[in-house]
Amino acid sequence: MNKRKFLKIAGSTSVIVAATGIGVFLTTRTPSAALLPWKTAGSQYSDPMRRSLSYAILSPNPHNRQPWSVDLISETEAILFCDLERLLPQTDPFSRQITIGLGCFLELFSLAATHHGHRAEISLFPEGEPGEQLNAKPIAKLKLVADAQIAPAPLFLQTLSRHTNREPYDITKPVDQDILQEITSVAGTDVVAGGVGQGAKLQNLRKLTRVALLDEILDPKAFRESIDLMRIGRAEIEANPDGISLGGAFLETLSVVGMLNRKELADPDSSTFQIGLDMVDDQALTAMGFVWINTPGNSRHHQISAGRSYMRIALGVTSFGLTMQPMSQALQEYAAMKPHYEQVHQMLTRDGEERVQMLARIGYAKKTSPSPRWPLSTRIRQT
Ligand SMILES: Cc1cc2nc3c(=O)[nH]c(=O)nc-3n(C[C@H](O)[C@H](O)[C@H](O)COP(=O)(O)O)c2cc1C
Repeated sequence: MNKRKFLKIAGSTSVIVAATGIGVFLTTRTPSAALLPWKTAGSQYSDPMRRSLSYAILSPNPHNRQPWSVDLISETEAILFCDLERLLPQTDPFSRQITIGLGCFLELFSLAATHHGHRAEISLFPEGEPGEQLNAKPIAKLKLVADAQIAPAPLFLQTLSRHTNREPYDITKPVDQDILQEITSVAGTDVVAGGVGQGAKLQNLRKLTRVALLDEILDPKAFRESIDLMRIGRAEIEANPDGISLGGAFLETLSVVGMLNRKELADPDSSTFQIGLDMVDDQALTAMGFVWINTPGNSRHHQISAGRSYMRIALGVTSFGLTMQPMSQALQEYAAMKPHYEQVHQMLTRDGEERVQMLARIGYAKKTSPSPRWPLSTRIRQT
């Protein structure tokens, strides 16, 4: 939500007076505790397992649900589970995206371990792959082995700078095809990654992601899931450092003057809802390129591979001074997305078998803030 649009709707004097009267209050709105895991990653822990995990919790994951839960066995061994309380039943009915998020977690865990001289041995689904629904069985067994010869992991150096960026991207700065190629080349060998930065395909993907996102917002059940996960203002973000944070001085101003709350957000006749619709254009139509990740099938192993690959690509994107935002709606498996799902698969897959697991817009934009995280200690179940 930008200031231009805010001023457009906040035309009434009373609103402006109220907003200017709370300037001092607004300077204190950073949710410091919710952002602490970005500051303490690595430094707080001397044992290799906690140190690597403290980076892994900074991975991208759908709706920032942070669905990871870890049983610590020793300083070098642990078991990763999915926290089944943190699923997204409406927009991610088979937890495909949640599993991708766990793949991101495993990749960042592995890169962090490598950076600190350990090889991460990851055994996926040691008690079998879950079927249509995730279950309480382990996602992965983790083991760290000291290895003085291990090759460095330069992508890891971008960990603290990588953030999902939902700002409009700079439409005067195209994304070079060579850079796109370099970025997708870090994807790994068990996925097929593609990218586009110009031409009809870029235009068509802008249109497709725009319409799919609009349809999600206009689908009451799907949008309700997002609204329920919105954390409005610092107090809510600090209390629940996950979900979709609507923080910062500007959004908090809207909240204080009563223009930003769950009722307004859900009401298609409200100006807040209208701003939400405008934001869709700001995001989809300023995409200066798209990157996608396909897998040959859609097993849980494939989903984990897609997540590991997305993690690497996101770090690669950051290293080029670019930024990225997944635009996942068209890939989702609920009724309103069916036509978009079919279209995106027609556009981006080589045959009917491949599955598009991730689709993200890419471009240059002003820096964005990190998103909140639960502290590592709250994600560990000591055994
Ligand atoms: C599988 C997956 C799907 C995602 N889909 C979207 C999306 O459709 N729109 C969006 O803005 N962000 C999406 N994200 C990004 C997450 O919202 C983001 O990673 C999370 O809020 C944490 O923020 P961070 O990436 O800045 O650390 C997705 C991330 C993953 C891993």
